[in-house]
Amino acid sequence: MAITYNEQERSFTLSNGRIQYVMKLFHDGYLGHMYFGKALKHFNIDRAFYQTEREGAPNPEALADARTFSLDALPQEYGLYGSGDYRIPALTAVLSNGTSTLDLRYQSHEIFKGKKGIAGLPAAFVNKEDEADTLEITLKEVGGELEVVLSYTIFNDVDVIVRSARIKNVGAGTVYLTKAASVSLDLPTAELDRVQLWGKHAFERQIDRTPLHPGIEIAASSRGATSHQHQNFLALCAHNADEFQGEVYACGLVWSGNFEAATEVDSFGNTRMVMGINDFDFKWELKAGDSFNTPEAVLVYTADGFNAMSQQFHAFVQNHLVRSKFRNELRPVLVNSWEAAYMDFTEDSIVDFAKDAVKLGAELIVLDDGWFGVRDKDNCSLGDWTIINKKKLPNDIKGLADRIHGLGCKFGLWVEPEMVSPDSELFRAHPDWALGVPNHKRYQQRNQYVLDLSRQDVRDYVVDSICKVLGSADIDYVKWDMNRNLTDIGSAAFPASQQQEIATRFVFGVYDIMERITQAFPNILFESCAGGGRRFDLGLIYYMPQVWTSDDTDEVIRQRIQYGTSLVFPPITMGCHVSACPNHQVGRTTPMLSRFVCAMSGNFGYEMSLGKLSPEEQEEVKGHIALYKELRSTIQLGKFYRLMSPFEGTQNETAWQFVSQDGSEVIFMYFKNLCLPQGNIRKVCLTGLDPDATYKVSKHMWTPSLAVNALDYLTNYNLEGDVFGGDELMHFGVNMDKVDRDFAAHLLVFKRQ
Ligand code: DGJ
Repeated sequence: MAITYNEQERSFTLSNGRIQYVMKLFHDGYLGHMYFGKALKHFNIDRAFYQTEREGAPNPEALADARTFSLDALPQEYGLYGSGDYRIPALTAVLSNGTSTLDLRYQSHEIFKGKKGIAGLPAAFVNKEDEADTLEITLKEVGGELEVVLSYTIFNDVDVIVRSARIKNVGAGTVYLTKAASVSLDLPTAELDRVQLWGKHAFERQIDRTPLHPGIEIAASSRGATSHQHQNFLALCAHNADEFQGEVYACGLVWSGNFEAATEVDSFGNTRMVMGINDFDFKWELKAGDSFNTPEAVLVYTADGFNAMSQQFHAFVQNHLVRSKFRNELRPVLVNSWEAAYMDFTEDSIVDFAKDAVKLGAELIVLDDGWFGVRDKDNCSLGDWTIINKKKLPNDIKGLADRIHGLGCKFGLWVEPEMVSPDSELFRAHPDWALGVPNHKRYQQRNQYVLDLSRQDVRDYVVDSICKVLGSADIDYVKWDMNRNLTDIGSAAFPASQQQEIATRFVFGVYDIMERITQAFPNILFESCAGGGRRFDLGLIYYMPQVWTSDDTDEVIRQRIQYGTSLVFPPITMGCHVSACPNHQVGRTTPMLSRFVCAMSGNFGYEMSLGKLSPEEQEEVKGHIALYKELRSTIQLGKFYRLMSPFEGTQNETAWQFVSQDGSEVIFMYFKNLCLPQGNIRKVCLTGLDPDATYKVSKHMWTPSLAVNALDYLTNYNLEGDVFGGDELMHFGVNMDKVDRDFAAHLLVFKRQ
C-alpha cells in the first residue's frame, strides 16, 4: 500500500517509491504539511517542523506550547482565514451567523485502493484499481457548520499526486463559500523560481521564469475560460533547475474556467502555493446538506528538471486523464478548410479541396466554420445548428460527408456549441438563453453572445441540436470551438443570491454537454479549440484527446508556442498544421520544409489549399505526409525531450527530440530562425539514449542552402548513413552549423543498430 497512517506519530505518508508526501496531526487535529519531494528512506518527522515563538503570530488558547505554536508558522494542508494564519487561505466562507473565521480539525480518514471520480467534473482515473491509492481526510470546522474532505491520490506509474477538496454544509443554516481552492502547498524554502505560461491570442503559453519575491504573486483568469493570457499551471523550481536536472514542484488544474495560481513568500523564507477556482466574483451558496467539489489539482515533483516534469505530465495525461478511446491511437493527417476558404465554399469546392489533399496523402478533411444558417461572415447564425446552409451544402452535411468518404478519406466538421449570434433564429426565439444582466446591454465579442449553460433547458437544446447534426451523417471528427470570453455574467434562471455562481456553473455546464455529446458519439475523434489555444487545459483534455494549439501557424512563433505547451501536454494532443505563406497571422514567408518540421512535431495537418501549390511543391508535400506517417508512432506515442529553448540563450534557435517507446528510433529537430553572418558552430547534444548503443542516421532533411556564394559544401551537408554512438550524441552532440539562410530547420532520424 502506497499510503500509510502512523498511529504513534499521527502522520500520513504517501509514497510510490520515487516521490513522497507527508502530513502530521498536531494537538487536537490541526493538519500540518511536513514534506513533499523525493522518496526518503529515513525521515524523522519530529525534526520536520521547528516550533518557535514568533512576534505577531497568534496562538490557540490552553496549549502547553501555546507561545510557540501558531497557524501562521505551521506548514499547512489547507490554510484558513481568521484563526491566526495570515498567508493566502485555501478556503474562505461566510457562515450562517455572518462571520468568516474558520478553524478546521481532523475527524477521521480513509485509505483505499484506486480512485473515485468527481460528480460533474473531469477527473483523473485509474484503468485498474492497483494503479493508485487514495487517502481521504475529513476535517470539521469547530463551529460545526462545515465539513471538509481533502482527497489525495498517489499513482504507481507516474510521479503525480492528485488533490481535491469537498466542502459540505453539515449545519442547519446557509453558508456562502467565497473561496475553495483545490490545493495549498507549503514549502520550507523561498529559494525558488516561479515558472508560468502567459500569452495572448495566437501567442499562447510563452514561458516566464522569475525568482520568487517576498509577498504574493498571482497568475489568474477571470475570463470564464482558462484564457490565452494565463495557463492554469505553475511550477516552482530550484534556481539551478534546467531541462535536465534540478528540483521542480509543479501543479496543473483539471479545470477550464476562472482560476488563480498564487504564491506567497512569507517573512521567514517559506513559500505557499495555492491554486484553484478564482475567488474573484465567486460566491457559492451551500444550503444545509449541500456540498461543493473543487476541481482536481495535479501535483508533480521531480529532482531531474523540466523534461522529467513534462514526461510525468505527459504520461499522466495519456494514461489517467484522456478518456477517449483514441488516446493511444495514431491520429490521422488532417487538412482543414479554414485558412483555405474561410466561409467561402460550396459542396463542390470542398470536394475539390479534398481531392487535392487526398492525392497527396491526407486522411481526414475538416470543414470548418460557415456551413449552417446564413453564415457567410462571423456575425450570424451561431446556435442554428440544424439549419444547414443549402446554398453551400445543397445535399446537407450527409451529401458532402458521403462524397469525402468516397475519396477514401475521413470527414470532420466544426461546431461552436456554447455560443449564440444575436442574429440567429435561436436568439430571436430565446433572448434569455444568453448570459446577461438585468438593465445592461450585453457586450459582444466576435459578434456573439455566450449561452447560459448554467440552465438545464439551454444545455438540453445544445445537446439535442448538436447530436442531430452529428447523427445526420457519417462524421469521424469534430472540432469544438469557443471564440469568446464571458461578460455580462448573469442568469435569468437563478436568484440574486446565486449570481456569483454562474461563471463556475457555466463551466460545469460545458462539462455536462461535453460529457453527453462525447458519450453519445464515442467513435468521433473530438478536437477542442477556443479561438486557438484559449482552453488548452487539463479539464477539456478529459473529454477531447487533442486540441488546436493556436491560431498562429507561423513556424517561428509556433516553435515558442509548442515548446511552452509541451511543458504540460504531450505532442499527440497538440494540433500543429502547415499553412500558406505569407502566413495569415504574421505575414512571414518561411520554407515549406521548416514549416513541416515544426508542424510534424505534433499532431500533424495542413491549413491550406494543397491544390494551389505548384507541382514541385505538391511533390514535396506528398513526401512530407508520407514521412510523417512513417514517423508518427514515435512522435505521437514516444517520449518527448526539449533540448534548446527559444526563450533562453540566443532565442534564435530551438531543438527538441522524440524517442520511440522501445528506444529504437530517435527523431531530432533543430530550428535556426535568423541566419547570422559567420554564425557559430552549433553543437546540440541529444538525451535519453542508450550510451552503449550506436545510432545510424536514416534520414537527414534540412532547409536547402541558398548557396549564394556557391559554397558547395553547404549544399552537400548530409549525415544520412553516418553512425554515432549514443554517448557521442549525448555528450559531444551533433553539429548544426551548416545553416546559411533564415528560417532553417534540420530533421534527423536515427535508428538504433
Ligand atoms: C477560431 C479557430 O481557432 C479557427 O481555427 C477557426 O476554426 C475559426 N475559429 C472559425 O471561426
